[in-house]
Amino acid sequence: MLRLLHLVTKLVALFISGLAVLSAVSLLVLSAAPAAARAEPSPERQAELRNLLVQDCGSCHGLTLAGGLGPPIRAEDLEIKPVDYLAYTILNGRPGTAMPPWRPFLSDAEAVWLAQVLKAPAD
Ligand code: HEC
Repeated sequence: MLRLLHLVTKLVALFISGLAVLSAVSLLVLSAAPAAARAEPSPERQAELRNLLVQDCGSCHGLTLAGGLGPPIRAEDLEIKPVDYLAYTILNGRPGTAMPPWRPFLSDAEAVWLAQVLKAPAD
């Protein structure tokens, strides 16, 4: 009887430590997720995205992004606009305007990166 009690105690302890490991793992995964969304695109992808900025975005916002059909989106124009707000606009477009959603072509991280590039002073 005592042996059985001992076994049950051991099992319960094992179960609790398993739970602890599980919650530690899920915490790790959860905290890693936003970091992944912020990860920089690869150098090759960065070159593609810079090309997209000139070729596609430039067709509306102007080759130098100083404005055209779309408003100017140079660093000085976007100074007070948060990165997340710009990334949201890039991903979802502006319904009812010419600004199209780029979600089919860009990941969240890539849109954040593009917004950061737009806000960075020209080099
Ligand atoms: C077909 C034309 C068109 C294309 C292509 C286009 N845009 Fe736009 N964009 C617009 C228009 C028009 C607006 C203004 C919408 C409004 O009135 O709110 C806009 C708004 C924006 C804004 C918000 C500016 C602000 O001050 O709030 C950002 C950022 C932006 N575009 C980025 C991009 C990027 C990056 C690309 C390329 C991936 C792109 N746009 C391609 C037409 C375009």
